[in-house]
Amino acid sequence: MGTRQIDKSRPFPYNLSGMKKSRLHVLHSRDQIAERVRCLGEQISRDYEGRFPLLVGILKGSFVFLADLMRHLDVPVEVDFVRLASYGASMESSKEVKLTKDLEIPVEGRDVLVVEDIVDSGRTLKELLGELAKRGPRSLKSCCLLDKRHRREVPLEIDYVGFVMDEGFVVGYGLDWAESYRHLPDICVVEPEEESPEESDAGQGVKP
Ligand code: IMP
Ligand code: MG
Repeated sequence: MGTRQIDKSRPFPYNLSGMKKSRLHVLHSRDQIAERVRCLGEQISRDYEGRFPLLVGILKGSFVFLADLMRHLDVPVEVDFVRLASYGASMESSKEVKLTKDLEIPVEGRDVLVVEDIVDSGRTLKELLGELAKRGPRSLKSCCLLDKRHRREVPLEIDYVGFVMDEGFVVGYGLDWAESYRHLPDICVVEPEEESPEESDAGQGVKP
């Protein structure tokens, strides 16, 4: 686990349209992500040796991370998904969390590992863990790729963390901004900026 500063010297490699007044900078490259996910997979495989865990992905953001993570697991797994009401079209965290799509596989007696893309206030994950705990799993743990732990509003222990984030709003590798940019292979920070006619695309990053 490690904290990384935003590296503004790395230009964003995509030419995108539709994102006005903002730039994207690579925070974690695809190679850094792959290495970290591989390490998490090894750690989880060791901890769940001899078990048959149920991975619970939180839609939509976790599907890319979960797909990569499960292929680094040496133990047999089952996979299911839940959907919780989240950010919508804004960058602000929603205070109210609702389960809008439930699991299809029962969790009673199972070793459940919840997989989340990013934890911010902690409300989404806390709400889900509370709900799943009521259903009598044998064990209940959580794993997130990105942890904005300094923004936590509710107490929460996360068992496996990919990267701790200092600041900013990120997209890519499954994470969206108003449903866009999930497809980017790198994790990129969105940097809103003032519209300025003098600025061109010649600087760092791309101004779409
Ligand atoms: P929380 O309930 O405040 O912890 O919010 C967690 C949810 O907010 C995540 O599952 C994401 O859907 C969303 N979220 C939080 N921060 C970001 C971000 O930087 N980029 C994209 N989505 C985010
Ligand atoms: Mg999410």
